[in-house]
Amino acid sequence: MYGLVNRGLEDLIRSTYGDATWSRICQTRGLDAESFSTMQAYPDGITYDLVGAASAELGVPAAEVLERFGAYWVLYTGRQGYGELFKLAGRSVEEVLGNLDALHGRVGHSFPAFQPPEFTCTRRPDGTLHLIYRSTREGLAPMVVGLIRGLGEHFQTPVAIEHTVVRGDGHPHDEFVLRVSTPQSPP
Ligand code: HEM
Repeated sequence: MYGLVNRGLEDLIRSTYGDATWSRICQTRGLDAESFSTMQAYPDGITYDLVGAASAELGVPAAEVLERFGAYWVLYTGRQGYGELFKLAGRSVEEVLGNLDALHGRVGHSFPAFQPPEFTCTRRPDGTLHLIYRSTREGLAPMVVGLIRGLGEHFQTPVAIEHTVVRGDGHPHDEFVLRVSTPQSPP
């Protein structure tokens, strides 16, 4: 994945647990703590390795690391200059979820080796949202849970997330049912 992702994880760990923790995480995997360039594509294995090492160092499951990282992503990409792109994607959780492929399509102009995920979001008669997440990569559903949580925090609209279809065992993708609350106040 692009270095932007690894750098996002780095930023989360450094800001929450300190520089020494990030250095130890990199050391255990023989990686240089200063090495990731945001615009360069790296093998996915490096990202998975960093998540695994962070999980071991922090004593939390890898899924928890991915979820926290997902929740941090909206804030992080905003600081990295992608805030306007994000604003274009919509003004509510539902709007952004409906425009994620367009958002990643625009991001792809700057990242030639981009392999973006695909999302389909539809509103069901009972008012809940049905989200399908497709990816060339496995194991990132917890990141999606965190991303949705992060969107909810950004728009100050708590989201209840149910992971209704788990990829694997004959299911080629993940599905979620989301219950989005009314905004508490305008973002
Ligand atoms: C302006 C905001 C955003 C930017 C700049 C951005 C950019 C990126 C980049 C560079 C990657 C790495 C892909 C690769 O290296 O091939 C990525 C992956 C991903 N993005 Fe985004 N993204 C944004 C917002 C979002 C949001 C709001 C969501 C979902 C709610 C999302 C879901 C994902 C997921 C799940 C992946 C992991 C890749 C996979 O599933 O295969 N992104 N994004």
